[in-house]
Amino acid sequence: MQSKTPQWQSACKKTLLDFSRNDSLRFWGWGHIIDGEKLPPFDYRYEHTLAVVKLGKWLAPLVNADKDILICSAWLHDCKKRLGTKGKDNHAKEAAESVEGILNGTDFPPEKIPAVQHAILHHVGLKLAETLNPIETACLWDIDKLSKLGTASLIHSICILPAFQPATTAEILSRGENWLEIAHSIVTSMNTAPAKSEATRRFELLQSFYKRFREELSSGC
Ligand SMILES: [Fe+2]
Ligand SMILES: [Fe+2]
Repeated sequence: MQSKTPQWQSACKKTLLDFSRNDSLRFWGWGHIIDGEKLPPFDYRYEHTLAVVKLGKWLAPLVNADKDILICSAWLHDCKKRLGTKGKDNHAKEAAESVEGILNGTDFPPEKIPAVQHAILHHVGLKLAETLNPIETACLWDIDKLSKLGTASLIHSICILPAFQPATTAEILSRGENWLEIAHSIVTSMNTAPAKSEATRRFELLQSFYKRFREELSSGC
């Protein structure tokens, strides 16, 4: 029998989905009408968050992290991140400040809220100078960055590209190859052993994908 989704998880999911859908429609400037509802061509923020939540469910038991704290921070870490905004980025601070209001009146243990806020405040950046603490904060950084490596990350980056600029095959390849350098520093910065091992596996896949992509584009076969 499947266990019932806790009320707080439904509240987090709804908050994130409402925000990401509106923000995606704003950024794309158009949407598909499905059953009378306007849907963005691709809701990057929501798809990214789903991947992060799934990774949290995988990682939490492997490193004895508190699952409530990790899954809650996974749902909400980007709940204020807008597509295409330039200048000072405050999305982690804004998200951390909104946590209490989102969870208010739900069944989320209130004593765990400061740990959720701490994890969200420290999830930004693509490399780390030192290991993060406590374990839930370390894990949120790891799963957020792991979601930017591997097969789903390829799909996510290709699907969102046309919202930013006209996409061509050559442009997708060149952006992907540039990303590999950053991706390597993500792998070396991983906080936890299981995430580092998975990041290495995903990085190798990206490397071989772009190598083959370059060969195919150069030779035609
Ligand atoms: Fe973020
Ligand atoms: Fe994120």
